[in-house]
Amino acid sequence: MECLNKIIPIASDHGGFEMKAYLVDIMTAMGYNMLDFGTDSSASVDYPDFVHPLAKALNDGKYPYGIILCGSGNGAQITANKYPNVRAALCWNVELARLARQHNNANILTLPGRFISNETALEMVKVFLSTDFEGGRHQQRVEKISKTL
Ligand code: RB5
Repeated sequence: MECLNKIIPIASDHGGFEMKAYLVDIMTAMGYNMLDFGTDSSASVDYPDFVHPLAKALNDGKYPYGIILCGSGNGAQITANKYPNVRAALCWNVELARLARQHNNANILTLPGRFISNETALEMVKVFLSTDFEGGRHQQRVEKISKTL
């Protein structure tokens, strides 16, 4: 998978704002086409207001992958996973980001902005956007996720 020159949507609340700004700047310089869904300051906001638009667009097939952030990552991830075609994974290190792609075919990387460093977040994003789903035994597991009882 190669995401350079593809649009990468990104959204956060105030808890992830500074990390989002860092990622947008450095990833743009690296050649990624970042689409910033906000928020645009450190003022307190409600994370669903920024995560819903990104998750809906991804759910509708407009983008293959996205990045969302809030303070803990939990609110953003829970919101995004309301959409049937979204698999948002909350990760806090590089190996979890890799496994989210390899085993879960996650299409949104969720970052806890108040609990990891900018440098770790960047390494996680690079791994997430360059790791393929393994399929095989994981394919049927991923297909069963939406089959609620
Ligand atoms: C905001 O204070 C904080 O609650 C939010 O960023 C997130 O951690 C919620 O899950």
